[in-house]
Amino acid sequence: MTGARTGTGVVGVLGGSGVVGRAAARALRELGVERLRLGGRRLDAVAAVAAALPGGTDRASRAVAVDLDAAASLAAFCAGCSVVLNCAGPSYRVRGRVALAALAAGAHCVDVAGDDPAYEQLRAVDVAGTGRSVVLSAGMLPGLSGLLPRWLAQRQQVGGGGRLTVWTGGLERCSRTVAADLLLSVGGDPSGDPSGHPTDATVPFGESLAAWRQGRRVSRALRAQDGAELPYFPTSVSLQPYLSTEAERLARALGLDELDWFNVFPGRRVRDLLAALGTGREPLAEAAERLVRAAELDLTGRRPYFRMVFALDSPDGAATAVLGTRDSYRLTAAVGALAVTATLAGTIPAGLHFAAEVLDPAESVRRLAATPGVTLDLSHGPVELTSSVGAL
Ligand SMILES: NC(=O)c1ccc[n+]([C@@H]2O[C@H](COP(=O)([O-])OP(=O)(O)OC[C@H]3O[C@@H](n4cnc5c(N)ncnc54)[C@H](OP(=O)(O)O)[C@@H]3O)[C@@H](O)[C@H]2O)c1
Repeated sequence: MTGARTGTGVVGVLGGSGVVGRAAARALRELGVERLRLGGRRLDAVAAVAAALPGGTDRASRAVAVDLDAAASLAAFCAGCSVVLNCAGPSYRVRGRVALAALAAGAHCVDVAGDDPAYEQLRAVDVAGTGRSVVLSAGMLPGLSGLLPRWLAQRQQVGGGGRLTVWTGGLERCSRTVAADLLLSVGGDPSGDPSGHPTDATVPFGESLAAWRQGRRVSRALRAQDGAELPYFPTSVSLQPYLSTEAERLARALGLDELDWFNVFPGRRVRDLLAALGTGREPLAEAAERLVRAAELDLTGRRPYFRMVFALDSPDGAATAVLGTRDSYRLTAAVGALAVTATLAGTIPAGLHFAAEVLDPAESVRRLAATPGVTLDLSHGPVELTSSVGAL
C-alpha cells in the first residue's frame, strides 16, 4: 500500500496545552515541523504554549480554541491540517472521534492514546479507502512498549518461540487525564459521561494476573507480589502481572511461547488505590483526583523515573533491553511526534494501525533513544534474578 504524501503541511496538536501535548509541540518543532496549530478549550493555555515554542510566536504557529465534544468545533480545528496529533483525553471517552473528524477533513491522524476503544470504533470504517492513515497508541505505553521488544527480537534474529519477561513502571506524577484513563481502562465510569458521549468500558485493556502460554492467554497464571527486588529498579517494588491487549498482539507477532508482563509499583499509595478499584462507586473526577494525589505522595522526596525492562530468552539467544526515562510523558510526546513525521514522510500506509505495528522498530528506537533524559541499555544474556520474581 502506498502512503499519501502530504508535504509538511499544518500539523494540528489537539490537547496542545496538556503535559503530553506541549512536549509534542516542542518535539515537532525540533524535528523541523514549522506549521503547528495548537488546540484546547482554554485559548490562553494553548497560546502560552505556542509563545514558548522554539522560535517563539510566529505566523507559522497558531493557537485555537476547540472543544472536541462539539462536532463543528472539532471539524473546524481539523480543516486544513495534513495531520492531526491527538493528545487530548481521556481516550476511553474520545475513542475514534478525533480520527473520524481528521479523516473527514482529509487529514491523517496520530493519537498518543486511543488504544483499543478507538480501534474498535474505527475498524468499522474503511480508513484505507480514504487514502489516509490513522496511527493509534503512539505513546510510550502502549506504543514504545510494543516497538522495543520487536527491535530486540529483530536484533537477536529471533525466529519465533522463546520467552519474554517484561517489567514496566516507576515513580512519576500523574496528570488528571492519565488518571482518568487508568481508571476507565480498569473499571469503567460509574458517574457516566457528562459530555454525553458513551464511554467504551466494554473494550478491555487487558487482564490482571494473566500471562501468555503457547499461543494463548491463560488467566491467573501469575500472582502479585510485594517487596520484590528487581534488577534495574532502585528500591523494592510491588509487582502486578497484567497481560494487555498490546502484549497479546506482541506475543502473536513474535510467535512467543511465553510472555510474562509485570506492572511495577515502587510506591505503595498508587498500588493500593488501584488494587482497591472496582469496590468504590465514586465519580470519575474524584477518583482521578485521588490517584493524582497518591502519585504525588509516592513521589515525595524521591526522584521521578520510569523503566521498561525486556528480557528475551529464546533458542536463538538471550538479551535484555532496559529503557529508562525521567519523564514518560515527554517520551510519549516523542513517540507521537515521530509517528507524525513518519506520516508526513509518506512511510505509513493508508489504513488503521497501532504504532508498534507500523513504525520501523530499529529506526524508531534509534531516534527515541536520543530523546534527552532517555537511556537505553542492551545487555546480552538473561536477566540475573535473585528469585523467580512473580512466578507461581
Ligand atoms: N501511551 C502513553 O504512554 C501515554 C502516556 C501519557 C499520556 N497518554 C495519553 O495522552 C493523553 C493526554 O494526557 P496528558 O497527560 O497530556 O493530559 P493533560 O495534561 O490533562 O492534558 C489534556 C489536554 O487535552 C485538552 N482537552 C481536554 N478536554 C478537551 C476537549 N473536550 N476539547 C479539546 N481539548 C481538550 C486540555 O486542554 P483544555 O482543558 O484547555 O481543553 C489539555 O490540553 C491522555 O489520553 C493520556 O492517556 C498516553
